[in-house]
This record gives sequence, structure tokens and C-alpha cells, in this order.
Amino acid sequence: MNKQSLIIDCDPGVDDAVALMLAFGSPALDLLAITTVGGNAPLAKTTRNARMLRQIAGRQDVPVHAGADRPLRRKPAGAGEFHGEEGLGFMTPFAPTRPVADGHGVDAIISAVNARPPGTVALALLGPLTNLALALRREPLLARRLGAVAVMGGARSEGGNITPSAEFNIWADPEAADEVLRSECRVTMFSLDVTHQVRATEARIAAIGAVGTPKGDVAAAMMTFSQTVEREIVGWPSLSGWGPPVHDPCPVAWVLKPELFTLKPCKIAVETQSELTRGHTSVEFRVDAATAPHLWAATVDADGVFDLIVKAAG
Ligand code: RIB
Ligand code: CA
Repeated sequence: MNKQSLIIDCDPGVDDAVALMLAFGSPALDLLAITTVGGNAPLAKTTRNARMLRQIAGRQDVPVHAGADRPLRRKPAGAGEFHGEEGLGFMTPFAPTRPVADGHGVDAIISAVNARPPGTVALALLGPLTNLALALRREPLLARRLGAVAVMGGARSEGGNITPSAEFNIWADPEAADEVLRSECRVTMFSLDVTHQVRATEARIAAIGAVGTPKGDVAAAMMTFSQTVEREIVGWPSLSGWGPPVHDPCPVAWVLKPELFTLKPCKIAVETQSELTRGHTSVEFRVDAATAPHLWAATVDADGVFDLIVKAAG
């Protein structure tokens, strides 16, 4: 099997946890490293959580490197109300057996990319973009050596989820997002516009839980927690077939099965000046497809994403 080399940068986080279970259970991926960033919870917790999830999934072979504990310029901001105090919903933390790997997450990204042929290492970013921004500063040629850069972040037609005009990952570190989007990285962005099409309905959660494995149990538990939160905070119409959006598996699902998504060439800019619209992603679709710097995920086969999660849980 021709494996895709992948680094996942994340802030686990309940939906990060589902994305990691998807990645850990997908043999088509050569998971080079997990790098962590402060975001949904402080760095110490997101790093511990990544190590816990790795252990539960039986993937102690994948190193976890701790990255940035704060944004480039802004104060650290959490999202505990959506992920629980410890960052993994109702899960009780435990001390993972394998320690965090030596070396900062930023250096781990740079060395993994530089050690392989240009364009062969993909990067999925599921939290604030601080680590990639720092890596691009430290290694200016990184953008040309990286393969696909898949970002969960941003919003256009769906509006924001941390403020009316911004999505959390971009809002948390807008300067980092700005530097990444101005770089030569060809970013493919999976915004709320597409992740809101991927909803954890009762039936989908039940199908994952029915696999009966630790990976399936964790993924189902995380989405059940999101259901609880969604009902309490956002208010949940009692429509059958409704459920909380599951954001972070989308970039990983795209790396695994790109045909599940349709993408639109574009140019994305980020608001960094205004406090009112901090982190807003302004998306210009009137671009030349051949030279457009970015891609915007517009539609997704949500059933196909959940099929991948069920398969990976096995
Ligand atoms: O807005 C959704 C994003 O913010 C997801 O990555 C979630 O984990 C939070 O980090
Ligand atoms: Ca995340």
C-alpha cells in the first residue's frame, strides 16, 4: 500500500479526539508525528490528552511533540465550555505510559518534512495555526517542501462559533493564520461552511459505538459529549437527524479520501486589526483557478466521512 505521510497538529479537544481515532485506525496513513498546541485547553492538557488517546488507540509508535503554549501575540484562550475542563469531555484523565517526545513540535514538523522528498508530507492542522506559523518563520523553505496543508478553520456563509464573525481556531491566533495564508503553503481550508454539514446524529454515533473497540468507544463518547453541550449551549432543534457538527475529522478524511469533498479555488484573508471581527476569514472566489493560492472545501459526503470513522474504529 502506498501510504500518505501525515503530521497532525491539534488541541485535543473532543473533535480532535475523533480525528485522531480516524487517523490512528487508518493504515493508509504513515503518521509521522502528532504535534500539540494550546487551544481548546492549555498545552499541558492538550499534550497529555494526545498521549492518552494514542495509548487508548494502541498507537504508542506515533511520537507526540508539544508545541506552542500560546498564540503569537494574543492571550491564550480556551474553549472549555465545548470540550470540558480537561479537554476530553467526560473522560477521566490518566497518566499515559509513553512520555512526550523530545523536541518542540515546531522542530518536529521541520525535521520530518526536511527528511523526506518535497511534497510528500501532508500536514493536518486541527487547532490554532501557531506551530505552523512558527515553523515557517524558522524554516523559510518549509512552504515549498510541504505537501498538502489541510486546515480546520474559518467560516464564511455559516458565520462564526466563537464570535459572530469568526471560527475558534482562526480567532484564537489570527496573526498565525495570517502568516500561514500569506505564505507559499497551498492551504485547503475546511471551515464551518463544510464541517456544519458533518453532524453527529444519534444513528451515526450508535454505528460507531457498535464497533465495540476502544477507538470506537472513544469516538462515540466524544460525540455524545458534544451532543450534551450542543443542547445546553447552542440549543438543539428536536429534529431527528440533527446533531452537533464534528469539525476536526474533515481534514483527515480529505487526506484519506479527497473525493468526499468538493473544493473551490480562492484567496483567503484574515482580519487581525478589528476586535469586532478578529479572526474573520474573508474568502475571494473571483480568482484564476490555475493560480489561486488557497482552496475552500464547499461540500462533503458526510456519510462517507462517518463510514471512514467506523472503518478506522475496527
Ligand atoms: O471551531 C472548531 C475548532 O475549534 C475545532 O478544531 C475544535 O476542536 C476547536 O479547536
Ligand atoms: Ca481542534
